[in-house]
Amino acid sequence: MPALRRGRALGDVLVLEDAYVLCDGERIEAVGRMRDLGPLGGDIEEVDGRGLCAVPGLVDCHTHPAWGGDRVEEFTLRAEGASYEELHARGGGIARTVEATRALDEAALRARVDRHARWMLRHGTTTWEGKSGYGLDRDTEIASLRAIRDAGGSPTWLGAHAVPPEFADADAYLEFALSGVLPEAAKVADAADVFLERGAFDATQARRYLRACADAGLALRLHGDQFTESGAIPLAVELRARSVDHLEATSDTGIRALAASDVVGVLLPASALFLDRPMPPARALVDAGAAIALATDFNPGSAFTTSLPLVASLACTQLKLSPAEALTAMTVNAAHVLGRNAVGTLAPGAPADVVLFDAPDWRYLAYHLGGDIVRTVVAGGRLVRLG
Ligand code: NIG
Ligand code: FE
Repeated sequence: MPALRRGRALGDVLVLEDAYVLCDGERIEAVGRMRDLGPLGGDIEEVDGRGLCAVPGLVDCHTHPAWGGDRVEEFTLRAEGASYEELHARGGGIARTVEATRALDEAALRARVDRHARWMLRHGTTTWEGKSGYGLDRDTEIASLRAIRDAGGSPTWLGAHAVPPEFADADAYLEFALSGVLPEAAKVADAADVFLERGAFDATQARRYLRACADAGLALRLHGDQFTESGAIPLAVELRARSVDHLEATSDTGIRALAASDVVGVLLPASALFLDRPMPPARALVDAGAAIALATDFNPGSAFTTSLPLVASLACTQLKLSPAEALTAMTVNAAHVLGRNAVGTLAPGAPADVVLFDAPDWRYLAYHLGGDIVRTVVAGGRLVRLG
C-alpha cells in the first residue's frame, strides 16, 4: 500500500508508455505495457485509451459541499474592494450561508450535495471528503453529514465552523454542540474539523472540541493559519491530527514543527486565489520534509471550484511544485489524510478508480490551465458517463 510521500519522494511518479490498466470488478488487477498483456478471456469491456493519459482517480480531501443559497453578492462586493474578513465581521460570510442552509428542507440539501458531487466527478475526483458546518444546529448538521455519506463522500463534522447567532459566545455554543450534536454526528462522520482563527474558535476552544471528538472515535482535522498563526500546528501535533489545512499565514517555526510531525499540511491554493490572499509556503514545507496534500476547499465563500486540475495548475504556477508533486499531493497523500491508504494509485489491488485525460502527456493536468481535459472516469470499476 502506498505510504505518505514527503521530501523528494513526493515527486516520484512512474510513467508507463503504451500501457494498460486491467480491472476486475472494483479492483485493479494488473498494470503494464500493452506488449506484455497476454490474451484475455471472458466478458471484457474495453476502453480505448490511445492518445489519452490515465492517472489515478483524483482525491479531494477538503471540501464543503453541503450548503444552500450562494455568495455571489459578496463575491461582487469583494471585486469592488471589500475584504472577506470584513464581510464576515459584518454578519455576512459563513453566517449568511448558515441561514440559507437552514432554510433548505432535507431533500433540497441532499440535491445540492448530489449536484456538487457530480461536479467533482466531472473534474476527475473519484474520492472526496465533505464537511458539514453550514447548519450548526443538530438537525441540519446531521442531515448534511448523511447527505455527504449517501453521495459517496467521507463525512467530516465541522461542528466548530462559526458561532451561530442564537448563542452568546463560542463556549456556550461548544457546550451545546458537544452534548447535543456530537453523539449523533460521531455515528455518521469519519472525522471532525474546527476553524481555529481570530473571530472563530481559539486554541483552547479548539482543543476542547477536538479532544471530545477524538474520544468519540473521530479522526481530527483543523483549519489553521488561514489569516493568523493562532496555534493550529502545535495543537495538531499535540493531538495527532490527520491534517492542518490552509497554512497561508504559517511562519518558519510552523514549517519546522509540521515537518517534524506526521500531520499532513493540506494546501488550498484556489482559496488563496479566490480571496486574493498570500499563497501557502508550499515549497518551503516540502523542502523542510513536511508531508503535504492539495485540495480544492470547495465552498460558496472562499473557493467556489470543484476542479482539482485547476488546483494542480495553481500548485505549479503559484506554489512552485512540479506536476509530479502536485499529482502525488492530490492522490496518494490526499487519500492518506482520509485514512484510505489503498486509494490514489494505479497498482494491483487498488480500487479501480481511473481518470483518462484528453492530452498527449499526463502533465497537462497542470499545464492546461482551466482545460476541459477529463475525457473518461472509471469509479469503483464502473465506467461513468460524464453528462
Ligand atoms: O475553508 N475558513 C473557513 N471555512 C471555509 C470558508 C467558508 C466560507 O466562506 O463559507 C474555508 O475557507
Ligand atoms: Fe475549508
